[in-house]
Amino acid sequence: MKEVGIGVIGAGAFGEIHSMVYSELPDAKLVAVADVNAERAREVASRYKAERWYGDWAPLLERKDIDAVSVVTPEGEHRDPAVEAAKAGKHVLVEKPIATSLEDADAMIKAAERNGTKLMVGHILRFAPGYVQIKQAIDSGSLGEPVWAYSRRNGSLAQVKRIGGRVSAIMFLGIHDIDLLLWYVGGEVERVYCESVSKEVGRSFGVPDFSWILMKFKNGALGSVETGWGLPEKWADWKSPSDWGAFAADIEVEVVGTKGAAYLDFPPMMVTGCDGEGFKFPDLIHRPRIHGKTEGAIKLELQHFIDCVKEGKPPLVDGKDGRRALEVALAAEASSASRKPAKLPLA
Ligand SMILES: NC(=O)c1ccc[n+]([C@@H]2O[C@H](COP(=O)([O-])OP(=O)(O)OC[C@H]3O[C@@H](n4cnc5c(N)ncnc54)[C@H](O)[C@@H]3O)[C@@H](O)[C@H]2O)c1
Repeated sequence: MKEVGIGVIGAGAFGEIHSMVYSELPDAKLVAVADVNAERAREVASRYKAERWYGDWAPLLERKDIDAVSVVTPEGEHRDPAVEAAKAGKHVLVEKPIATSLEDADAMIKAAERNGTKLMVGHILRFAPGYVQIKQAIDSGSLGEPVWAYSRRNGSLAQVKRIGGRVSAIMFLGIHDIDLLLWYVGGEVERVYCESVSKEVGRSFGVPDFSWILMKFKNGALGSVETGWGLPEKWADWKSPSDWGAFAADIEVEVVGTKGAAYLDFPPMMVTGCDGEGFKFPDLIHRPRIHGKTEGAIKLELQHFIDCVKEGKPPLVDGKDGRRALEVALAAEASSASRKPAKLPLA
């Protein structure tokens, strides 16, 4: 296989990014884009020179020239396109979280197993160089055994406004950090405790402003995730330069092991500017535009998916990994509601 034929299902904010990056990868060909909003599918398809667009994903899956799809629909609408894609023999990269219920995640995993297709989950931090460096330091043994790990992802009101509170910050943002800590610490989580605070976001969107999650691993280690989207809207609200991107999250990681520790701190991401709009900084990590092309974690992630399809190798983050992160996120939501620790596995 010289070039992998790609279909993108869901052409919203992140579906456009997938379409753009595939259109720039040398061994991928963006063939078609589908979205229930046909006009949006047309717009994204023509912008990134896909041959066709559809207002429904079913005809996209019938195409013989499509080998693999990205499913970039809203979080609760991953199952049907992912399962039907596997039945049509297409490999699937599904955005995070894998789904919003374990039943949906299981159906997707089973469909991929039955049809011999790949199922990769878009846990992008596994491709972000700073995060990968910490993982490699852990794997080298130089930090010893992880004792505790902390990861923060606090976004601004703009994010919850954009998606209208269709899922919690735990599912939208914290799922990245949950997957990260599972990757770093390894092994299973036996107990999750979570407290949330609901103020402005809670009143307007019915989901908490911020949540603090504590994970107790079976091997004794502790994991802690802080996530939310109650930072002021102006936190990262600049319009120019247009390719600086608006990476609207306050981020930090700490990993302490028996022999050493590692730290990651993003803002101000090494480059800062200030003009009439105030202070700003470009995204140098996730999807910086460099000489007219997208680089960074998203390119590494999508290239990894293409390599897996071409070379028949298993993805670095598969359906079962996605399910593990989802189970912890669901446990955190349940604990936040009941104010009691939630035991894993969830019934
Ligand atoms: N990895 C990351 O950093 C990252 C960032 C943003 C979003 N995401 C994930 O990407 C996914 C999409 O998020 P988004 O922000 O692009 O959402 P969005 O609301 O901007 O876009 C979703 C698109 O899907 C379309 N759609 C809805 N139901 C559909 C269906 N059944 N079939 C086809 N199209 C359908 C909508 O019309 C819309 O255009 C989510 O899972 C989200 O969590 C990941």
